[in-house]
Amino acid sequence: MNTTALVFPDLAVDAPVPAPGPIRFGSEAHKVLFCRTLLDTFDPYKPAVIDWPKLDKDAQDRITALPIWDIAVQTENRAGLNVCTYAEEIADPLLKKAVELNGFEERRHRHVLSNLVEAYGIKLAPEPVYERPRDPEWAFMVTGYSECIDSFFAFGLFETAKQSGFFPAELVDTFEPVVHEEGRHILFFVNWVAWHRRNMPLWRRPWFELKVLAVWAFLIWERIGIAGDVSNGQQDNNFTVNGAQQLGNDINVKKLMGICLAENDRRLGVYDKRLKRPRFVPFMIRQIRRVIPN
Ligand SMILES: [Fe+2]
Ligand SMILES: [Fe+2]
Repeated sequence: MNTTALVFPDLAVDAPVPAPGPIRFGSEAHKVLFCRTLLDTFDPYKPAVIDWPKLDKDAQDRITALPIWDIAVQTENRAGLNVCTYAEEIADPLLKKAVELNGFEERRHRHVLSNLVEAYGIKLAPEPVYERPRDPEWAFMVTGYSECIDSFFAFGLFETAKQSGFFPAELVDTFEPVVHEEGRHILFFVNWVAWHRRNMPLWRRPWFELKVLAVWAFLIWERIGIAGDVSNGQQDNNFTVNGAQQLGNDINVKKLMGICLAENDRRLGVYDKRLKRPRFVPFMIRQIRRVIPN
């Protein structure tokens, strides 16, 4: 278990938020806007003081039986390492600060989950050894794009669990900051990609675009692998297929996709309109939703 104490980052910056009016992706104003959006919306909660609500037996059994805890803990640990390692190599002070905050929040998610696991007596599988990534940019992109996929579905599943009462209201409140933070992370990440690709030497750009494609190929391959493992009784993060039936009674895939889309719009709609939004996953889901029956 990761017991490293969390030290709150210093968030003071002297870059003023860009004045109203259009901004160009890749510009200094764009960088200040997406970095400050992350920094200014920081929520200084402390996982150690979260009071885990006492659940009735049914609710506790439902929560502990969810097949997501191993993968969730491992994902947060890996995300913390990937993001913090990438932050180390950033020269720009504002961007560095924002990526460091992103890494801090991933590590805090890990603490929240550790405490939840302890509070409800969830048994975790032994964790793998987390190797420091050899290519920090690749690792940051793997974490960023995988959050773009997972958060989209997590938004909808969280809402479904809330509506169906699967998650007791007290637990919804406890988890809301984590889900909220993942929304901020994917917003930050897609803007970083847009800014980063416009600020690298021209010769690097084709290589970077290939890297983006390779990350997507890797993530799709990884998810197919995880789905294939379900029959072996392993825990998985294929939330849409396996989580949905458990979270709500009358939920079908089409309805769930609709909730994911609506929640995605709601959660990301509150930020500065000039920022780029994650588009690929919502676009694909919209297309799929059109052709599947009710
Ligand atoms: Fe996280
Ligand atoms: Fe995240």
